[in-house]
Amino acid sequence: MDSQKSPQFVIAPSILSADFAYLGKEVQDVLAAGADWIHFDVMDNHYVPNLTIGPLVCEAIRPHAIKNGKPAMIDVHLMVEPVDRIVPDFAKAGANLISFHPEASPHVNRTINLIRDQGCQAGLVLNPATPLDYLDHTLELLDLVLLMSVNPGFGGQSFIPSTLNKIAQVRARLDRHQAETGRHIRLEVDGGIKVDNIADVAKAGADTFVAGSAIFGKENYAAVIEAMRTELGKSGKA
Ligand code: DX5
Ligand code: ZN
Repeated sequence: MDSQKSPQFVIAPSILSADFAYLGKEVQDVLAAGADWIHFDVMDNHYVPNLTIGPLVCEAIRPHAIKNGKPAMIDVHLMVEPVDRIVPDFAKAGANLISFHPEASPHVNRTINLIRDQGCQAGLVLNPATPLDYLDHTLELLDLVLLMSVNPGFGGQSFIPSTLNKIAQVRARLDRHQAETGRHIRLEVDGGIKVDNIADVAKAGADTFVAGSAIFGKENYAAVIEAMRTELGKSGKA
């Protein structure tokens, strides 16, 4: 499915913190409030100790994920093990980008190719303690690197400060890759992002920001997203 061209800074609210009784409306509201993508957290009570939503819910929100009359990106974050069985189901359900954790797949390269063969963009997710070595033989196949700034499994946790250093290291690597190949790979950060730390995350080198409780925990989504964009503007990276 064609999605609109992403802006330099992407804000991707995690619907994990939305009101699930009104999910379609929550998706519409947050996009109308200025969000760029919808971040969709899939947890299986196996790879992570929590259970959330699957392809049926992705399919149900797909018609509501519209921005300026065009489909908005649904950014699926798989915290499941095994990974491969469920990938085609999410592609059919309208996911645009599918990311997974390398520890959850015995054949990381095969899983990335499976995601691409299904017509989706592919992302690799690195936990706070996962080394960057996983990027060594995968970068050329990736559209996005997702760095976790909390341990996966729950919304509402605090940002782990050592992530900033890791973001800077990945930024340098992605810049080198772009200089060599001309290909842009997004750097997304997920966990504990708020108005008061988003500028530091951008300064370190991230361009795509997941925020769950910071947005859905507030009355006025537009005010939070606007405040985040103001902070991003001050980061000196715009
Ligand atoms: C954590 C999830 C995150 C989380 C973000 O496992 O991947 O997307 O919901 O929520 P906040 O912004 O509340 O940390
Ligand atoms: Zn996530």
